[in-house]
Amino acid sequence: MNSFFAENINHIKNLSRNEFEALYEFTEILNTADKQESLIENAMDIVIKVINAERGLFVRYDEVNDNFSIITARKISNENITDLNQFSSGILQKVIKEKKPLLYHDVMGDPNLSQFHSVQIHKIKSVIGVPIIRDGKIWGVIIADSTLDRREFTDENLIFLNFFSNLVSLALERIIKLEELQRENRILINKLQATEEIPEMIGGSITMRNLAQLIYKVAQTDATVLIYGESGTGKEITAKAIHQLSKRKSAPFLAQFCGSIPDSLLESELFGYKKGAFTGANNDKQGLIEAADGGTFFLDEIADISSALQAKLLRVLENREIIRLGDTKVKKVDVRILAATNKDLNVLTKDGRFREDLFYRLNVFPIKMPPLRERREDIPLLAKHFAKKLGRADIFIEPAVIKKLENYYWPGNIRQLINVIQRALILCDTNKIQTEHIILEDSKDLTDFQGTLQEFEMLLLKKRLEEFNGNRTLTAKSLDVSVRWIQLKLKELGEQ
Ligand SMILES: Nc1ncnc2c1ncn2[C@@H]1O[C@H](COP(=O)(O)OP(=O)(O)OP(=O)(O)O)[C@@H](O)[C@H]1O
Ligand SMILES: [Mg+2]
Repeated sequence: MNSFFAENINHIKNLSRNEFEALYEFTEILNTADKQESLIENAMDIVIKVINAERGLFVRYDEVNDNFSIITARKISNENITDLNQFSSGILQKVIKEKKPLLYHDVMGDPNLSQFHSVQIHKIKSVIGVPIIRDGKIWGVIIADSTLDRREFTDENLIFLNFFSNLVSLALERIIKLEELQRENRILINKLQATEEIPEMIGGSITMRNLAQLIYKVAQTDATVLIYGESGTGKEITAKAIHQLSKRKSAPFLAQFCGSIPDSLLESELFGYKKGAFTGANNDKQGLIEAADGGTFFLDEIADISSALQAKLLRVLENREIIRLGDTKVKKVDVRILAATNKDLNVLTKDGRFREDLFYRLNVFPIKMPPLRERREDIPLLAKHFAKKLGRADIFIEPAVIKKLENYYWPGNIRQLINVIQRALILCDTNKIQTEHIILEDSKDLTDFQGTLQEFEMLLLKKRLEEFNGNRTLTAKSLDVSVRWIQLKLKELGEQ
């Protein structure tokens, strides 16, 4: 039992009926509240009502930086106050120092307090200050005050508040534990959806060695990284590697796939929501960006998000701030952002389909993932690695197979190579992979081509267009020709 309580136990009988009722009412809230904010708001209302104060303030105290932030502040008229200077910081400091509830009757007349600017401006007559203690440390402070024309606070009010603060501390303890568990749960679920292990990036080519160096360097910073490249080139494992190599590695790495997901669903996943924000929002829910606090957040397939969400993401990137759906409160998050896309954001930005300001915020440190055909020398190593990973370390890959793999164009890059190896392992009955086990989709092997140069040109063009889903820009890039050249050729074919 704390000493204040022991000294004042005799006064308990002096608590008014209202005060007893308020304590009772609060014990009920204590059992049902499951969010810090709603608990604190309820607590604030009770304080203002019971002690007949005009204004109430609940601040969170940050001991390390010795500063306060408002959690809730309001007048009896239910108006919210957002400026901490409206209250006396001197009194807040006193509560922090003394670590016990304080009550001042004649504030204006007290030379120690009347010097405070805010006391003079607001003509504060009575002030009550109550610390909320967690683990023996000050977690927050409740301040309630009253001006000239209201009645003074009493010693019983102070006793009431002391009881009350103990109850709030207890409830907070429970809620904070619950919130921590919920956050942990979200992180675990997200991790289950992503592959867990530390990414292994195989490749001895100069391209890959340079890339590895780049990844290592950027991992040491907090810079936003935009990873771009064709499908299956390793964008996701690069994002994971950046996190694993960074000082944030013991904090969560959370990811959200942003492609082809309805806007509202994506928004609630990313930002969370407040109870009642939409039909079915029965509870407050933390978003993934908030859950990644302290860690890294990976926005996969960023090019596909709507312009409304682009604006919201800009806020995260500019100020590290989020607002839950249906909420007005801004929350600060300490999160490193990584993003990936297989589209050309430069082109999308010029076309007005992607916000320019967001593009520049994402493109702080761009990393281009090289397509597999630009590092064919890694193919033998990769093929062997995947066979081993698929449980066949014993397998021998014939040189002719390696040659076939090296000659292929790999539109699906490494992911496609994994599939090809997997299929080969199913097809071969011995411990030797031979060329007939290698099935390359739609591949009329161009090395066996028998026709004319012109026919070869057309065949190659058609094949590439197929590989890039008809995308002429990418096809032109891969053939090192202009889009115009492709248009002309297609015209010759009578296809345009
Ligand atoms: N250098 C590498 N070494 C070993 N495995 C790799 C390498 N790069 C990619 N992989 C593997 O290839 C597969 C595809 O990689 P990842 O998912 O990171 O590609 P992506 O660029 O995100 O693809 P998409 O655009 O299709 O989403 C994964 O199974 C990954 O583990
Ligand atoms: Mg990916």
